[in-house]
Amino acid sequence: MPVLIRENDWVLETAHTAYAFGVTPGGLLVHTYWGARLTRAEDYPTPADLASWASFSGASHGMQEEYPAYAGTKYTEPCLKTTFADGVRDTVLRFAGAEILEGDKPVVRVTLRDAYYPLEILVCYRMHEQHDLVERWVEVKNTGDTALNLERVFTALWHLPWGGQYRLSYVYGRWFDEWQLHREPLQAGVKALESRRITTSHQSNPWFTLDRGSADERQGEVWFGVLAWSGNWKLLAEVTDTNLTGVAIGVNDWDFTWRLQPGETFATPSSLAGYTQGGFGAASRTLHDYARSILPHGLKPHPVLYNSWEAVFYDVSESSQIAVAERAAQMGVELFVMDDGWFHRRDIDNAGLGDWWPDEKKFPNGLQPLIKRVNELGMGFGLWVEPEMVNTDSELYRAHPDWIIHFPTRDRTEMRNQHILNLGRADVQEYLIDLLDKLLSAHNIVFIKWDMNRNASEPGWPEAPGDQRELWVRYVHGVYRVWKTLAQRHPQILWQSCSGGGGRVDLGMLQMVDQYWVSDNTEATARLGIQEGFSQAYPAITMESQVTHMGSPLLPLTFRFHVSMLGVLGMSVDLLQWSEEEMAVGAEQISLYKVIRPLVQFGDQYRLLGAQGRTYSAWEYVSKDRSEAVLFAFRTHVREPAHTPPVYLQGLAPTANYTVEGYDEVRSGQAWMNIGLRIRLGNFESTVRRIKRV
Ligand code: GLA
Repeated sequence: MPVLIRENDWVLETAHTAYAFGVTPGGLLVHTYWGARLTRAEDYPTPADLASWASFSGASHGMQEEYPAYAGTKYTEPCLKTTFADGVRDTVLRFAGAEILEGDKPVVRVTLRDAYYPLEILVCYRMHEQHDLVERWVEVKNTGDTALNLERVFTALWHLPWGGQYRLSYVYGRWFDEWQLHREPLQAGVKALESRRITTSHQSNPWFTLDRGSADERQGEVWFGVLAWSGNWKLLAEVTDTNLTGVAIGVNDWDFTWRLQPGETFATPSSLAGYTQGGFGAASRTLHDYARSILPHGLKPHPVLYNSWEAVFYDVSESSQIAVAERAAQMGVELFVMDDGWFHRRDIDNAGLGDWWPDEKKFPNGLQPLIKRVNELGMGFGLWVEPEMVNTDSELYRAHPDWIIHFPTRDRTEMRNQHILNLGRADVQEYLIDLLDKLLSAHNIVFIKWDMNRNASEPGWPEAPGDQRELWVRYVHGVYRVWKTLAQRHPQILWQSCSGGGGRVDLGMLQMVDQYWVSDNTEATARLGIQEGFSQAYPAITMESQVTHMGSPLLPLTFRFHVSMLGVLGMSVDLLQWSEEEMAVGAEQISLYKVIRPLVQFGDQYRLLGAQGRTYSAWEYVSKDRSEAVLFAFRTHVREPAHTPPVYLQGLAPTANYTVEGYDEVRSGQAWMNIGLRIRLGNFESTVRRIKRV
């Protein structure tokens, strides 16, 4: 339970951390503490009002308000900006009460009310005690009888301890080059990261860490957080003129207005944040544990899969897929996924999207014979769909050209020859639910790859129920509704979120999906860095990683397998072209993966030597009971004379004894962690070593 120190003054204590806030005598909800859990509850600071010291900024300007609105003489980034019906754009929020909802994960709900207008904000905090995380969101309610406009409604402002010099870590990139890590000192002013694309985006991800500039993978204070939202988002990291640092995060206010009707509530998505002294590695592991705790299918091993895309692209057919499926089964593949190209008139990317029934030429007898054969071979069957999209050349577009996102007076810009269906519309949602439900009900399908291959343009909605700019949020709600409805009706299906690679990876997606496609770039040396970036916030069990032809012949097949074994192993190659020798290597690697899979998918991950900017990298996964671990090391190209770094293991029980494959001696965990291992590898070589407690 939260500790109530004084009246209206709360401390959310988790296993190792504390997050505190309270109400000042003047009625403002302010932040008081975020960091290590203190031993004496009475030591947590008391909320206080400040005196104004210059006529250019008011008193609240220098205060760490938990949910500041744009009002008065405060000039820092607010969480809320509204315009009332009479044109007033100043929102004066005052404390109006609070309640604690008890339960496994208690919630503190603080009510703020505008001093004049009928507007109520519930600022909500949920404690995830065992995961050392605090979750925040707000619910904004119009309690009056006239509509008002919300122009910014962020989820949270996370305040850092006052006066620090912080460094921000984030990921940045683009299609085929997602997840590149950046670390930079925060300077005075605002650093913004965002998506304006309708999805989470390839460019960045709603994840952040802040440290004092000296944290590394193993140690140091780190404050970190994520936003569970799959559409436009914004993160503003601000260092104010009074040297306060905070990270505001939420739905993007770019091109956003929500007309809040009388009696209506707008609920934001959640943000989760935590604190650790164990560096970036511990921050990631905290998020990994949390993400695994909310996976729709729980802690069930994810299957080794085969995917047809990189093998044959659109050229799928019953006989060619059966031929490949037979080879895949022979190697130990557990799930056979047919990618793009299977549906009505889909020969290339200019037709078919929207018409989700089997192509009559490629599958004259429907999908049943293929699925039957795949099942006989002992594999589950999965399918690719891209429900949010439509090609102009499709039955769907011909019937409903007005269903796409568009402005009537503007061009309808195509990307990859396709348009985005307006999933904010109830009729579009119903159409998709109905059609996809039929497809899933008629076939034995256990896996769906749900793709999304373009970003928004001309974001119009002529018949919008409220302000047209609500599209950005209503669209995401629509995607969630369609997807969740299908997921509930077909609980056996494991869903993958893909958006041309890693364009829609976020915690919001985990309401439906168990894994993500991380990047279309499957070249294994590039992939090492991409996977390192992805792993900052998301666990290996959600990271689909496939061996493809990319990187061949320079990169040995084992190297490509080892890279993919860092997550959920898959293959997307034309197995009919593989020699018997390659088939044997594949079979051997798949059986090794099945042995180490519990460690990779359920264990603690340690980035021993990160791959970005390095030519020699190493990863370790340790079982929760620390009885077993697995070490991966990769050398890409190191110029001569090659000095490869030592590898220091982590996460072992210091006093227990272990063996490491390839070494004769038995050593204590402490010794293995303190004595660097030299693992000799040539260029483009890799190794997987099992570690066991004896
Ligand atoms: C996207 C995906 C690929 C593949 C193709 C199919 O690019 O990221 O994996 O499914 O679409 O068109």
